[in-house]
Amino acid sequence: MSAPHPLASSSADRPLASLPGPRPLPLIGNLAGVELDSIHLHLERLAAQYGPLYRFHMGPDAALVVARGELIQEIHRERPEGFSRLLGMQRVINEIGIQGVFSAEGADWRRQRKLVMSAFDPGHLKRYFLALVRVTEQLRLCLDEAAASGQALDLQTLLMRYTVDVTTGLAFGIEMNTLREPDQALQGHLDKVFPMVMRRIFAPIPLWRYVRLPSDREFDRHLAKVHEAGHRFIAGARERMASDPGLRERPNNLLEALLAARDESGGGLGDAGVLGNVLTVLLAGEDTTANSLGWMLHLLHTHPAEWQAVVDEVDAALAPGEDMPREFDTARGFETIEACINEAMRLKPVAPVSLFEANKALSIGGVALKKGAQVIALNRLAAVNPELAGDAAQFRPQRWRASASAADHSLTKASIPFGAGPRLCPGRYLAMLEMKMVLATIARNYELISVATEDGTPPRERVAFTMFPVGLKLRVASRAHADLHSNG
Ligand code: HEM
Repeated sequence: MSAPHPLASSSADRPLASLPGPRPLPLIGNLAGVELDSIHLHLERLAAQYGPLYRFHMGPDAALVVARGELIQEIHRERPEGFSRLLGMQRVINEIGIQGVFSAEGADWRRQRKLVMSAFDPGHLKRYFLALVRVTEQLRLCLDEAAASGQALDLQTLLMRYTVDVTTGLAFGIEMNTLREPDQALQGHLDKVFPMVMRRIFAPIPLWRYVRLPSDREFDRHLAKVHEAGHRFIAGARERMASDPGLRERPNNLLEALLAARDESGGGLGDAGVLGNVLTVLLAGEDTTANSLGWMLHLLHTHPAEWQAVVDEVDAALAPGEDMPREFDTARGFETIEACINEAMRLKPVAPVSLFEANKALSIGGVALKKGAQVIALNRLAAVNPELAGDAAQFRPQRWRASASAADHSLTKASIPFGAGPRLCPGRYLAMLEMKMVLATIARNYELISVATEDGTPPRERVAFTMFPVGLKLRVASRAHADLHSNG
C-alpha cells in the first residue's frame, strides 16, 4: 500500500477554528486598525504571540497563517493542483487587465509559464547581454553626474528606471532609456498599480465594483496609461514581425513569442492574454529587482568590510581600465556578490508574505483545511529563525559559502526569495544578472558615500505588493583614478 500524501487530510486533524489567534470582528475580521503597508510585520509579531500556526481573519473567514519553513515550502510545491494563488487576489489583478502568468491557474498557467520561462532562460540572457551593457552604461552616466555634483539620488527611482529599461529591452525588444529621458512618464503610472492592488486585495468589501471614488478614477487614469504603453510595445513587435516573418518561428523575445502563440490556430492565448503578460512581466520585473538592490546597497554600506570584499572581487575580475563587466561569463561570476545578494534577500525578501487558497480538502501541519480555505505563508520568518542560528538576524554573506556551518545551511535552505516549487520566479536569472551588473559597476567606479535615509534612521519596510525600503538616498564619489587602474 502506498504511503499517504503528506498533505492528505485525516480524521486526526485539528479544525482551523481551534487554532489560537486574535479575536475577529464581524465582517472585517482582524484587519481593523492594521496598517496595510506594514501588514507583514503585524503578522510576524502575531506569530511570536500565537506560535508558527495560527488563525487570522482577512474579512469574515479564517485563514491559516503558517510560519514553519518546511510547511511553507510544501505549500509552494503543491501548486497548481493543491493550492492556487488567493482567488481574491487573482480577481483583483485580472479585472485591471493584467491577466498573465502570475494570476493564471491550471492549464492556462502551464501554457503561459512555458512561454515565459523560455524567454528568460540563460541562452536568451546571453544573447541580450550587449543590450544590458548599454542600459548599464546609461546608469553609469547618471552616477557620474551625481558623483561630480555631489547630488543625492533617490535610490528606488533610479533603480526602477534601470529595471524597466532592462525588462522592456529583454522582454519586448524596446530600448526605452527611462534612465536618461525621465519625462517618459510610464514609471509614474506603473508606481500607482501595486499600492491599489494591495488595498483591493485586503478590502473586506469590494466597494470599487459598485461605486467609483475619486481615488478609483485617478487609478483608472494611471492604469489606462500603463495599458497604452503595453499596446505600443505590442504594435512595435507586430511591425517587426510583419517585416521579418521568420520571427514567428524564431522569436527574439517574450513579446514576439506571445504574439506567435496568439496567432497560432488553437494557441489559446488571446489579445488580452498577450497584453496581460506584457504588463505582468513589466510589473514583476520592476519593483522586485529594484527593491532587492536597494536593500542590498544599504546593507553593504552599513557593512564596510563586506563592501570592500565586493570591491576586491570586482577589481580582480576586470581588466585594467575596464569599467564594468563586458563579457556575459564575467557578469555571471562574482561569488562574493552572489553571496551578498542572497543574504540581502534572506533578510529583506520582496515577498515576506504569500497568499494561497486550498483547491481541495488538505492538511497542513495537522490542521484540516477545507476547499477554498485561505493560507498566509510568512516566508521570511523561517529564514531568520534564531532557533536555527543565533545570529540569524545579522547580515553575514559568508553563510552562503559551501564551507559554512550546518546552522548557516539550515537558514539558507529556508530562504525562498524567489518563491519555490513549480511557480518559482521565472525572472530569477535575469534578476541575478542585473543585480550583479549594477553592483559590479558601482563597486568598480564609485565610493559609497552613503546609502541611507535623510535623517539617518534605519529605512522602514513598507509593502505595496512587494516590500521596499522607504526613503533611501544614494551618494557616491568617483573612485580615485589611480585606484581604478592599478588592479592591485
Ligand atoms: C530580485 C528580483 C526578483 C524577486 C525577488 C522575485 C520574486 C518572485 C516571487 C517571490 C514570485 C512568486 C513565486 C511563487 O509563487 O512561488 C515571483 C513570480 C514571478 N516573477 Fe519574479 N522576482 C524577481 C524578479 C523578476 C523579474 C526580473 C521578472 C521578469 C522580468 C520576474 C517575473 C516573474 C513572473 C512572471 C512571476 C510569476 C510566475 C508564476 O506565477 O508562474 N520576476 N517572483
